[in-house]
Amino acid sequence: MNTLVEETAELLRLSISKQAELRYDLSPNLPSIEADTTQMRQVIMNLVINASEAIGAGNGLISLSTSVMRVPKDDPIGLMLAPEHAAGTYVCLEVSDTGCGMSAETQARIFDPFFTTKFTGRGLGLAAVHGIVRGHKGVMKVYSELGRGTTFKLLFPAAEGENDPSPGTSAARAPAEWRGKGCILVVDDEEAVRRALSAMLKNLGFTVVLASDGREGLEKFRQTPAQFAAVLMDLTMPQLNGKQAFAELRRIHQDVRVVLMSGFSEEEAAPELVGKKLAGFLQKPFEFEALIGVLQRALGETQAES
Ligand SMILES: Nc1ncnc2c1ncn2[C@@H]1O[C@H](COP(=O)(O)OP(=O)(O)OP(=O)(O)O)[C@@H](O)[C@H]1O
Ligand SMILES: [Mg+2]
Repeated sequence: MNTLVEETAELLRLSISKQAELRYDLSPNLPSIEADTTQMRQVIMNLVINASEAIGAGNGLISLSTSVMRVPKDDPIGLMLAPEHAAGTYVCLEVSDTGCGMSAETQARIFDPFFTTKFTGRGLGLAAVHGIVRGHKGVMKVYSELGRGTTFKLLFPAAEGENDPSPGTSAARAPAEWRGKGCILVVDDEEAVRRALSAMLKNLGFTVVLASDGREGLEKFRQTPAQFAAVLMDLTMPQLNGKQAFAELRRIHQDVRVVLMSGFSEEEAAPELVGKKLAGFLQKPFEFEALIGVLQRALGETQAES
């Protein structure tokens, strides 16, 4: 984690504001964690970029720190951990900034995909971070005050063998969170949406194939129609829109499970498809939980046992 934090933040140094000072406080002898390095890099990047955007043009400080946290059995340290988080050793990553901070209203929505307060923002950074942390069985906490700054605190379970040998660790775990399997084709013309969905889906256990418009989606689908557990597709795209692509997909493979996404409601966007051939519908912006719900329903018959 230490190496990754320093490498990633240093890469960002050039792109963040010159007024923002980067400071490290990395604990030596950190246990290692089992993690996807590419995804961890994405987490650090999104948090540091947010921090630098919160500081804006003024002077400010971005601190990155790592530490070890031992969670004794039967003590989920107050409100810090949910009961399903087992006792054991955690690696803690903290990204703090002295930027603008957030109101309580903003804080309540920051993990929602597409929630942004920025003119140029897409609102997908933290949604992806949330998905990745969840996929790594981690915990994420936010502390923020308007005008004072923000701290994101992420905890990841230390790798197997680096855990406290305290007995009963596995018995303390709650039932596993929902996992999916199989391959999902994601068709959306917005790169940021593709990236965020890809991160979230992978962390649920799916493999993902991406396409940036209806035509490319069809091409990829046509190659191995039976490979796809479902297709997640935006309704409004250039080239071939979602509705046309949907019709084509069904021509290739009658039983294809298609979930359409749109900024409009299902009734507004595709009234002729409501309750019919669609496997599901997601109105943007949607929450991670809504994505899980729609996938559970869309795949219900094939993955009911998961
Ligand atoms: N460090 C921070 N300080 C203050 N507000 C923050 C911070 N990090 C996130 N936010 C708030 O949370 C919102 C969502 O953040 P998120 O990273 O998901 O999207 P974004 O930064 O707006 O867009 P992008 O997808 O381009 O990163 C931001 O628009 C901002 O209001
Ligand atoms: Mg962001």
